Amino acid sequence: MDWKDPDMFELVNHGNKPFGVRVPSLVVSRGAGDAINFLTAMWFSPMGAEPSRMVVAILKRTLTYKLILERGEFVMSAPTDKMMDVVVFAGYISGRDVDKWQATGLTAVAPAKCTVPLIGEAIGNVEYRLVQVIPFGDEMDLFVGEVLATHMRKGCTEGELFRQDADPMLYMGTKYGEDGKALGKFYTHMGKIERAPYDDSPLLQKYLSRPKIKRKA
Ligand SMILES: Cc1cc2nc3c(=O)[nH]c(=O)nc-3n(C[C@H](O)[C@H](O)[C@H](O)COP(=O)(O)O)c2cc1C
Repeated sequence: MDWKDPDMFELVNHGNKPFGVRVPSLVVSRGAGDAINFLTAMWFSPMGAEPSRMVVAILKRTLTYKLILERGEFVMSAPTDKMMDVVVFAGYISGRDVDKWQATGLTAVAPAKCTVPLIGEAIGNVEYRLVQVIPFGDEMDLFVGEVLATHMRKGCTEGELFRQDADPMLYMGTKYGEDGKALGKFYTHMGKIERAPYDDSPLLQKYLSRPKIKRKA
């Protein structure tokens, strides 16, 4: 195979950054008592369709870790692009030190299926039941949540998609200067929405129109 030189790329020290533009989450938890808390999480991924699950890495040292294990439920809220201060705050301050609900003044909203509140200011909230805890190194575990109910802000979606004028936060992460000094956290806004070419993709159609090859499992 004729492999080209990687002239178009440069090696960078930014880990998974090509996948960096994402909606962050606020993971809401409630302990065995009434203590309610939330943290900012970026290490998560939706998995599968039926059942729809979420895998989120939670640091063992957080209050969230303890509270989710106590109740076996959690909520993940998607912030709007007006909520950057909340996202930064909840990612640095622990509920062990500060009552984050009180400090942010966020609105606790009644859930449909679980007993953990939704965040009223969010663009969407998903309720989960904790179905699995997967060990993932010394510092964190992967929490697997099964979707119990999904709440989208009225008027922000068309079918199952965000509308073009919706305002989910598209978080990009921390920017570092030449000297490695952090220059702040950055985010962007939703742009133009375009339909993906399935029916009229010449490449896909060419292969779909071929007779199917039977494969052994
Ligand atoms: C942008 C960002 C993303 C983060 N992602 C995660 C994450 O996915 N999982 C996690 O456990 N902590 C994550 N953290 C750290 C927690 O939000 C932080 O430790 C928080 O203060 C813990 O709060 P708690 O003790 O009230 O639960 C992240 C922090 C920031 C700033």
